[in-house]
Amino acid sequence: MKLTHFDPAAFLAQHWQQTPLQIRNPWDDWQCPVEPDELAGLACEPEVESRLVVQTGPEIWALKQGPFDAERFAVLEGSPWTLLVQAVDHHVPEVAALLSQFRFVPNWRIDDVMVSFASTGGGVGPHFDQYDVFLIQGRGRRRWRVGQICDEATPLRPHQELKLLADFEEKAVYDLGPGDILYVPPGVAHDGMALDDDCMTLSIGFRAPSRAELVTGWSDHVLDQLTDDDRYADPGLAAQDNPGEITAEALDRLQAMVLEALGDREQFARWFGASNSTPKYPDIDWKPEEPLALGDVRGALDEGVPVLRNPASRFSFVREGEGVVLFVDGETFECLAEVADLAADICGADEMTVEGATPAMVDLLLALANMGSIAFAGDEDDCDDEG
Ligand code: SIN
Ligand code: CO
Repeated sequence: MKLTHFDPAAFLAQHWQQTPLQIRNPWDDWQCPVEPDELAGLACEPEVESRLVVQTGPEIWALKQGPFDAERFAVLEGSPWTLLVQAVDHHVPEVAALLSQFRFVPNWRIDDVMVSFASTGGGVGPHFDQYDVFLIQGRGRRRWRVGQICDEATPLRPHQELKLLADFEEKAVYDLGPGDILYVPPGVAHDGMALDDDCMTLSIGFRAPSRAELVTGWSDHVLDQLTDDDRYADPGLAAQDNPGEITAEALDRLQAMVLEALGDREQFARWFGASNSTPKYPDIDWKPEEPLALGDVRGALDEGVPVLRNPASRFSFVREGEGVVLFVDGETFECLAEVADLAADICGADEMTVEGATPAMVDLLLALANMGSIAFAGDEDDCDDEG
């Protein structure tokens, strides 16, 4: 499935992080990549994050966290409801394949694909998200109302978990059918309501670190490397007229101590790459049941078997000198020469064939395969989540 009638460059220039956009079925041949039953099945799995929002009255929403018993869905009658399942791309390859159409945004900004299924009138209520989202109508129809720009100060209703807006200032209404997309930038109020009993929405969600997360994470990392004897020193101290003053010179030295420690760009790149590539659900173990050996990898490559990235894995890299530093699921790999090219290629494609692999390339692929971050096509067991 391809986003044929869509111009990523124009979209990025005119709408990304700026204004909502309705995109009328831009696909060559839209087919919803997941069935309602499959979604309900995932919502019963303990390692899958899911929620059920039931509208128990006008303007009243109730939230229940999964996992759910299969019987729970049988009794959902009367009140409009929505079932929401997070990271469906990690479990359904056809949903993961959708993401490849949105890689005009870098890997490190992509979060996951959440899928919702709703009965007529169902929705999660008026809210805003901190992140960009493409809301793709998978099947059925949904009415989206788009509202005002919100921030931390925007008044919310009392229900803590649902974070619903106290007021909604409607600016535009879009009725979406199968294949249609609504892009919503961060902070823009929106409210979706299912128009029929077969309403499925796939949300391609992005992530953006807050300044607070960056400062805390990076400074914690720097702190771990500082020693107690790395201290303020003032040889050649000049006698002061007023001993009560903290002089500008002293402040300059003190602040320089902090900024120097935090300003190491190369270390920052490594810390950020590794922490940003930590899996969304680190407790899920994707390792193969039996570890692979060098010969298994060599054999698969010799047969031309494609390398597949695990959709639940996070891959990115930074350039450093002549090489690249590869980050996969929180692990860091220093790659030079042909291994650097391989690392960059794996980050750029969900699936690839590797020709003429050198021993160093095989070593990297073996390490990644044994982490469960890649598998060889057709070898489904190698990418099986065993919880
Ligand atoms: C939904 O799919 O019902 C909610 C998605 C969203 O508003 O972000
Ligand atoms: Co939303």
